[in-house]
Amino acid sequence: MADGTAPSGNRLLIKKSIDQIQREAQGNALKRTLGSVNLVFLGIGAIIGAGIYVMTGNAAANFAGPAVLLSFVIAGLACAFAGLCYAELASTMPVAGSAYTYAYTTLGEVFAWTMGWLLVLEYGVAAATVAAGWTGYATSLLKDLGIIIPPQYASSFIQSVAGPDGALSFVTTGNFNLVGAFGILVVTGLLVLGVSESANVNNVIVIVKVGILLLFIGFGVFYINTDNWHPFIPENNGNFGGYGVSGVFRAASVIFFAYVGFEAVSTAAAEAINPQKDVPVGILGSLVICTLIYMAVAAVLTGVVPYSKLGVPEPIAVAVDAMNLPWFAKLIKIGAIAGLSSVMLILTYGQTRVFFAMARDGLLPKVFATLHTKYRTPWIGTLLLGGAIATAAAILPISILGDLVSLGTATAFGIVCLSVMYLRSTRPDLERPFRVPGGGIWINGAWIGLVPVLGIFFCLVMVTPLVIDIVIKASSGDPIPAILLLSYAAVGATIYIFYGYKNSRLAKGLDVLDVGPDAH
Ligand code: ALA
Repeated sequence: MADGTAPSGNRLLIKKSIDQIQREAQGNALKRTLGSVNLVFLGIGAIIGAGIYVMTGNAAANFAGPAVLLSFVIAGLACAFAGLCYAELASTMPVAGSAYTYAYTTLGEVFAWTMGWLLVLEYGVAAATVAAGWTGYATSLLKDLGIIIPPQYASSFIQSVAGPDGALSFVTTGNFNLVGAFGILVVTGLLVLGVSESANVNNVIVIVKVGILLLFIGFGVFYINTDNWHPFIPENNGNFGGYGVSGVFRAASVIFFAYVGFEAVSTAAAEAINPQKDVPVGILGSLVICTLIYMAVAAVLTGVVPYSKLGVPEPIAVAVDAMNLPWFAKLIKIGAIAGLSSVMLILTYGQTRVFFAMARDGLLPKVFATLHTKYRTPWIGTLLLGGAIATAAAILPISILGDLVSLGTATAFGIVCLSVMYLRSTRPDLERPFRVPGGGIWINGAWIGLVPVLGIFFCLVMVTPLVIDIVIKASSGDPIPAILLLSYAAVGATIYIFYGYKNSRLAKGLDVLDVGPDAH
């Protein structure tokens, strides 16, 4: 397609050919060094972060009580089905890239753009969310060391408050979370210098953060008071999502965040020694391990401390304090800070690379793909994105940020499931070393598979409570989440219509922008 001839067909649905993405990947050939164990570690490295260290406490305190355990199963199922779909696409197209590339190849450009814009929620906004969680542990550790950070510099401009009936709403304050913003700016600086994690560094961090959680489980079981588990599903307080069954699902949509990141394994398909086998093992292995750890941590957390006391920025540290083991409390905080820092780095890196890919395709300005002459990193894009993520971390509370991530990610996962069925229907001939299990049926030339359909169903289960919550809030005079979401969608549509649509290199029949060798 490098001959300047535009592809024919519906302009919004033009697609990259599989040959083309494979050719693009060759120009950028990465060394195949990662085996399945490394990929499982890569997945766990990206998965375990603010979700378990912070949001589990909030989900239990505000929505589900001890039944947050069930919420982990529901959210884990959504990810497992989507993970199988990711694995099929990654084995069919074992190239660097992500759901953005898959959508460009299967469903067409407007879906690729939508996917890229959703991935901003999944990576950029998620990085801001983790920074908000990081702030809780960082300020708590500093306090232990005698350094008090005034709350106006460690909490967000917009904050969530509970009304007399228990319903949560948002208010503005004069505060700015400069601590979280600082964390993101440090990560941004490292990324400009080209310090993305090596597999070895990642393995060490994974051992630290998993080790800390296992210690928490190991010590914590001796401090469980089983009375704290009764009632397992607290009675609904009259509000949607305020405990009861709706609360279990509302909490599932919150802690869905805790699983975000497993798809990083599929983005490493180009570096896998045997992608057809290693990538599915990496995705599913990391998901299963994290689900088990999460359920055990949630059981200990809600068993040691009454769930109503867990709505704090550092719930695991609070549970350790209740065990009266001061040395362990410090260790937990250090482990959390290290683990969350690495997730901030991985997510911010992911964000810069999604924009890098979109800029090379002409869908975003070139500046996001301009490499630094010495460091070979997309430095201007990294600085711009780092600034935007730091601003989001300073202004927005973890609850709004986390909901935006869950909403965007569940929608992106749904599109991935759809892509599997679309590609099976249109290119049944392609070699697929890994296929989603469970089979499917053909209806009018379309392949409908059990796993992708279940994946879409569970993604809807994740999205629905969030949408209901946003609508209820907007209709009861709290429009902040709705305004944020609609403005976000409007900005995305505007950029595509006025920039991406006009400058798409695929539409012009051009290859991706050549930025030279050794981008990293
Ligand atoms: N899953 C990641 C976390 O919990 C994003 O921080």
